[in-house]
Amino acid sequence: MMRKIFIGWMMLISFSAFSQTDAKMKSFVDALMKKMTLDEKIGQLNLLTPGGGIATGAVVNSDVESKIKTGSVGAMFGTIGVDNIRRVQQLNMSNSRLKIPLFFGSDVIHGYKTTFPIPLALSCSWDMNMIQKTARTAAIEASADGLSWTFSPMVDIARDPRWGRVAEGAGEDPYLGSQIAKAMVIGYQGNLKDSTNLLACVKHFALYGAAEGGRDYNTTDMSKVKMYEYYLPPYKAAVDAGVASAMTSFNEIDGIPATGNKWLLTDLLRKQWGFKGFVVTDYTAINEMIHHGSGDLKQVSAMALRAGTDMDMVGEGFLTTLKQSLKEGKITLQMIDDACRRILEAKYKLGLFNNPYRYIDSVRAAKEVLSADKRQVSRDAAVRSVVLLKNENQTLPLKMNGTIALIGPLANNKSNMVGTWAVSGDSKYSVPVLEGIKNAVGSSANILYAKGANITDDADLAKMANVFGEKVDIDPLSPDQLLQQAVETAAKADVIVAVVGEASEMSGEAASRSDISLPSNQTRLLEALKQTGKPLVVVLMSGRPLTIAKESQLATSLLQAWFLGHETGNAIADVLFGNYNPSGKLTMSFPRSVGQIPVYYNYKNTGRPQDPGKKDKFRSNYLDIDNSPLYPFGYGLSYTNFNYSNISLSDTVTSANKTIRATVTVTNSGNYDGEEVVQLYVWDEVASVTQPVKKLKGFQKIFLKKGESKQVTFNITNEELRFFNSDLKWVSEPGRFTIYIGGSSDASNKASFILK
Ligand code: NOJ
Repeated sequence: MMRKIFIGWMMLISFSAFSQTDAKMKSFVDALMKKMTLDEKIGQLNLLTPGGGIATGAVVNSDVESKIKTGSVGAMFGTIGVDNIRRVQQLNMSNSRLKIPLFFGSDVIHGYKTTFPIPLALSCSWDMNMIQKTARTAAIEASADGLSWTFSPMVDIARDPRWGRVAEGAGEDPYLGSQIAKAMVIGYQGNLKDSTNLLACVKHFALYGAAEGGRDYNTTDMSKVKMYEYYLPPYKAAVDAGVASAMTSFNEIDGIPATGNKWLLTDLLRKQWGFKGFVVTDYTAINEMIHHGSGDLKQVSAMALRAGTDMDMVGEGFLTTLKQSLKEGKITLQMIDDACRRILEAKYKLGLFNNPYRYIDSVRAAKEVLSADKRQVSRDAAVRSVVLLKNENQTLPLKMNGTIALIGPLANNKSNMVGTWAVSGDSKYSVPVLEGIKNAVGSSANILYAKGANITDDADLAKMANVFGEKVDIDPLSPDQLLQQAVETAAKADVIVAVVGEASEMSGEAASRSDISLPSNQTRLLEALKQTGKPLVVVLMSGRPLTIAKESQLATSLLQAWFLGHETGNAIADVLFGNYNPSGKLTMSFPRSVGQIPVYYNYKNTGRPQDPGKKDKFRSNYLDIDNSPLYPFGYGLSYTNFNYSNISLSDTVTSANKTIRATVTVTNSGNYDGEEVVQLYVWDEVASVTQPVKKLKGFQKIFLKKGESKQVTFNITNEELRFFNSDLKWVSEPGRFTIYIGGSSDASNKASFILK
């Protein structure tokens, strides 16, 4: 009884504390808005870039200084560095009439100046603490350098590796994607109370990852059930975690561009989900609605505001047309006020009205930017992001003796290691693999090196990959000379380590590929190396799953290394020599061929399911290829082995308000200590909306010493059994459920129960 009263009091106190802060903010913003002219209100809705950083569209703004002075700018991005930011804030504070502080944003996507693995790589760690720590660390570093807003996390679910932006997301699964979205928002924002935090921005709302044909900026179209079940959950998870802002996507939804889509931005985001932050467009997304076919600049700007967009990134459509639209009655003053209020509230929450220079502290910048502790986080994250796909004859880990031939265009390369979307990450701080290996072995082993091939010999592809600086350097030696050197070098070694892959800018924004194989000159290199008869360890770098059926055959061992950031070389060496036993698991399926795309683990059976491994007439299969991916979602090996016991269920019958416990014993039966990601999948066998053969509903990453066993238990409540029905209600239905527990989505260890 006493406890109940106490809890009641606590709730009352915290509720009133919350509403007091809210009320204070409201009266502050009310008072400020009373003083503001219409132009000044519209000015707050304007986000400009002077063109620093990476421009991701054709336009950058002009005359930014005078716009700031007249109060026509609400926030800036592309201004980097504490001194630059101070100058711009000073310009604003000493010239604009109402002295409303600006806030400063940037694409802090996988680290700020210290670069971490690309997000797709990080997701393969399945390590939420680690992921949260990378976001926290990036926030500390970026906020020390004057920033207060990051355009991250990118949580777009994607089933199509042709789309280059899969590099920036967390893969194909909504459950895992939601956990990661939450971890990142918490990591960036903390409680937003002190100046080590950033406003986060969930993007790209919504469905950007479903661009048709994997072609960037393309149309999307899907049923609402599919949207709710598979694509929307990570955005919702970010909202539930309190994300301060959301960025609209470039694509249309149901024929209406996301930036002008009232159903999306108001009905779903604000009304259904209770989002309290502000909505910013993607780069010139309002203007792009003209090309979509939604009207001229005045029309599309009004449409965006009416839909619930608050801030216009770069396009200046709001700035130049909203006043006229208001006169014509196309929008209301209330709409402008609402948007302006949301921006001012963000500034209030950042504490900028108390101190516009709160984030601008050169002492902090000098201490935090590129500090040693951040590099350590980068290395810890990097080793956890590597996925071991194959390890014949236990070739890995390598012994630190004899002669190792390190070959390949990415083996001694700095410029690609930071990966795509590392706007502030300077390649000069990258540790190349050659250096990392030399650091690790010292004089214990002899390391030979040859480049072996260019990343690509295709001049057009190289040109596109080099837009942000040289990523593909064409060697003065001819391809044949490079190859010959490599073979001669390999012949002198006991083992070959070939570091091959894409250039970093062959994935990322506007980097879709219709052919996602390894460039053919590199496959030729691997074939020649294989001919030497030496064990061939392939370290594959890419921003997406590649089609590597042939290369995986050639490799004795295969490590999927993505792009791992500044500490790449040291991290790869840690894994190669077994200082770290790989524990990553794929978060996107690896297709056997492009023709199989989309290929994903949570597929539906169809009415004519393929008999696994068999091709039959009148079955849902291809004539020429199996339906299964080359490597499935959730897959990844270790230097040790993990055995799973049968699943034991606490009951075989359950009901909506009961919990079933599913337990397995996992044993490390190999020769190394190691970590395993134990995964739980659910199959709802009969439902009013057909369900996929498996849905991830839980995972636990555990550490087992060699020889050790651990019990792992999953609690299965009604929540894990629900789906979106055709009324878009989140329901469970009675019937039989089968669960699978194992180390990959192809786990066959199963048990069934009935939901009454
Ligand atoms: C365009 C990209 O789509 C988005 O992700 C990014 O945040 C903005 N440009 C700003 O750089």
